Amino acid sequence: MCGIVGAIAKRNVVPILIEGLKRLEYRGYDSAGVAVVDGKDNGKLQRVRSTGRVAELEKLSQAEHVSGELGIAHTRWATHGVPSEKNAHPHISGGISVVHNGIIENHDELRARLRSQGYVFLSDTDTEVIAHLVHSFYKGGATLFDAVRRTTAELIGAYAIAVVSENDRTHLVVARHGAPLLLGLGEGENFAASDASALIQVTQKIVYLEDGDCAEVKLDRVTIVNAKGDVVERPVHISQLSASAVELGNYTHYMQKEIFEQPMAVANTLEMVTSAQSVSPQLFGAEAGRIFSDIDSVLILACGTSYNAGMVARYWLEGVAGIPCSVEIASEYRYRESVPHPRTLVITVSQSGETADTLAALQYAKSLGLLYSLSICNVPESALVRASDLRFLTRAGPEIGVASTKAFTTQLAALILLTMVLAKLRGRLTTERETELLHQMRHLPTALANVLHVEPQIKMWAEKFATRHHALFLGRGIHWPIAMEGALKLKEISYIHAEAYAAGELKHGPLALVDKHMPVVAIAPKDALLEKLKSNLQEVRARGGELHVLADQDTKLTDAEGLHVIRMPDHAGILSPILHTIPLQLLAYHAALERGNYVDKPRNLAKSVTVE
Ligand code: G6P
Repeated sequence: MCGIVGAIAKRNVVPILIEGLKRLEYRGYDSAGVAVVDGKDNGKLQRVRSTGRVAELEKLSQAEHVSGELGIAHTRWATHGVPSEKNAHPHISGGISVVHNGIIENHDELRARLRSQGYVFLSDTDTEVIAHLVHSFYKGGATLFDAVRRTTAELIGAYAIAVVSENDRTHLVVARHGAPLLLGLGEGENFAASDASALIQVTQKIVYLEDGDCAEVKLDRVTIVNAKGDVVERPVHISQLSASAVELGNYTHYMQKEIFEQPMAVANTLEMVTSAQSVSPQLFGAEAGRIFSDIDSVLILACGTSYNAGMVARYWLEGVAGIPCSVEIASEYRYRESVPHPRTLVITVSQSGETADTLAALQYAKSLGLLYSLSICNVPESALVRASDLRFLTRAGPEIGVASTKAFTTQLAALILLTMVLAKLRGRLTTERETELLHQMRHLPTALANVLHVEPQIKMWAEKFATRHHALFLGRGIHWPIAMEGALKLKEISYIHAEAYAAGELKHGPLALVDKHMPVVAIAPKDALLEKLKSNLQEVRARGGELHVLADQDTKLTDAEGLHVIRMPDHAGILSPILHTIPLQLLAYHAALERGNYVDKPRNLAKSVTVE
């Protein structure tokens, strides 16, 4: 999704801005641009924009000799107006240049007012109103900082903005409300960005801005003013991101790298319990013991793949811990009238911690009087983590591929730990069962590494899938959400229409779709529902459907006409959903490759969805 980088230095900042944009590319975008105040030409603004990749923008800026010591840059994911050069940021109004993430809801009325003042609009974006508004105050005599403050006072919606003026080469001004923005502190140079990863190459010292903050960023200092207009100090964090963690290394794609990193990512996430004899609430924060003892239900809020993780967790939380659990799509919950129950633990599950709908759903839950919140998240210091009472950080490392993989399996690892802690507090976990589960968790990284060996067989399935237009994924019980995740992965990156069904529902509709052109994937671990699932599979075979089954060793399912079986190397008991995810990720990855798709950046999608 949209990304912002800004810089002021005593050197040409264009390479810094471009490098920053490259590091934000993974979020998904459809155009990019950069504007700098020209060091040589009397401080004139120079701007380049492109609907191509950032590498193209880099070539263009080199060809046009764009350079300067103050500048802003942006990757845009279209919301208002199609992806085109004229809609790409930065936008300019009489020497003022602006980049913006988010959506301005009152842009129509602001545009009408600005038009009546004589401003001409050259783009279809909501952002252009910000540029003109800042300009209107600036030309009336306000400083750039005051012009930005007066502008933000008029904006309704979510935004993070960075602004420069060609008449004021000493600073840039940034502001945020509802969209992430941070400052990077250097030696005699300073930076701003929407994500700390954009600044890895220049600084580790990060200052996260709060909602309502506006900051003036100069060469030697930054000044932050809060929503009330008071000058405030915000803590300096040392970013733990390392440049190598976001490099491809020997892999061809980030998604491939991230699939294969899962044994390590899960091992890192579970590190604190690998040598432990027991689990404790403290894993989720100092207050967790008190809060967990006071709750009597759980509400999980999430989007996309993280929602599927929540759906798996419901089976664990109700089945093992015996605690009532509901799971809601964040964008639905935030606008639904629900019956609040104060002693509910609200759990947000998110890779990025910045997903706008999940954040808004958490705020909404709090506004209804829900007392307690826990964030399961992969990004320390992200907005969700900061907004929650308790937190558990999955330690997957940066996830760059738009289609989430290692974030999902590490979320599941975190959620099974939570299940154990709650089960123990509720007297539903014997010491023997706890020891047994901890043993299974210690074995999980090895089991994951074993499953990765099914890749050659999956590749053969993928070659066939790549020629089809539709696919059906079936699972029962806790493996139904895994079927959902398999279908989501396939549609995200291969663009094959895929649906997931609880296998028992097959005959209530989707069976009508089944014929020899419809490949069907079934997840068939050896659990209590296996015999039921086998009957559902017969229903598919009787209609000529081609079955692809992921089966445990002792399920007695073997290859036959129209039946293709891959045997899973390990049976992982209640951790089985984590293992069954891997072949489905590989299936989507190889089907997408077969089709020649750009797997890391699927069309129309963004990694971190920071708008509604
Ligand atoms: C986007 C991504 C998905 C992700 C979802 C939720 O749609 O493309 O991969 O699952 O957002 O993101 P989150 O960061 O909250 O997990």
